[in-house]
Amino acid sequence: MSSSGEAELLHTFKGIPFTTRSSPELLKSLHTFDAREDDVLLVSYPKSGTHWLAGVITKLYNTQVTVTSPIEFGDVSQLEKLNKLSSKRIIPTHLDYNMLPPNFKNKKCKMIYISRNPKDTAVSMFHYYRDNPNLPTVDTWTAFFDLFLKGNVVCGSWFDHFLSWEEHEDEKNILFLFYEDMKKDLPRVVKEITLFLSLNVSDDDIRDICEKSSFSEMKNDTEKENSDPTHTVCALTSNRKLIFRKGAVGDWKNYFTPKQNIRFQEIFNEKMKLSKM
Ligand code: A3P
Repeated sequence: MSSSGEAELLHTFKGIPFTTRSSPELLKSLHTFDAREDDVLLVSYPKSGTHWLAGVITKLYNTQVTVTSPIEFGDVSQLEKLNKLSSKRIIPTHLDYNMLPPNFKNKKCKMIYISRNPKDTAVSMFHYYRDNPNLPTVDTWTAFFDLFLKGNVVCGSWFDHFLSWEEHEDEKNILFLFYEDMKKDLPRVVKEITLFLSLNVSDDDIRDICEKSSFSEMKNDTEKENSDPTHTVCALTSNRKLIFRKGAVGDWKNYFTPKQNIRFQEIFNEKMKLSKM
């Protein structure tokens, strides 16, 4: 990674690397954010399928909902902008549980955490680093692999992020989802989401929504600009075209060497020893 690039594009807040698209003033003010009881939070570590989930969820409502920009994105005026929105808010975030504005927790807002095999997440993030001018340059997969394992990437350690949320998995207002389950049986996961959000959606409509939310449909929509090309649910870019790369499970096998796989597994086993995963 070029160190001058890193110096310009990243800064650290409470030990976690953020891009300069999240201003330090905003991050410092987040704790003052005024949540509403009907806010729905879409939470993820980057590259876990957040846009997919957002695409599905917006289609489930027949009332007006707004998927806002991520709460940690922008300067301090972001909080005021979100405050002014009159419609129901679906708010994406990559924040660690401990950094989440306390009001969301006190008001028991519904939160959906989407997670993905960290090996595939790492590969997806590697490509994102390469293609995204808002992120530092990485020269090789090997270099990125080391950064990822050390948590020396934007949003910090995958393990810390996941564990901070998993600790709250049993709270009734938090739903845990996995990218791989969505790939395997999207209608079943969508049904689970409708029950969690208390939405009445018929099985036929669920089937239709799943078809419209396939990787190819969503990618095409972006290419045809059927969706706002500058609106992303990721604080790291405003270019939707960077999001839809491959959409596959197991792409890590094309990148990890056997040695890297063993090293990853050892660190995974150590970090996740208290996890239910
Ligand atoms: P890949 O880079 O592995 O292709 P996020 O939205 O959190 O940034 O996650 C992006 C990842 O989700 C990318 O993974 C992207 O291709 C994948 N993705 C986006 N929409 C998808 C869909 N409809 N079906 C499957 N995967 C999808």
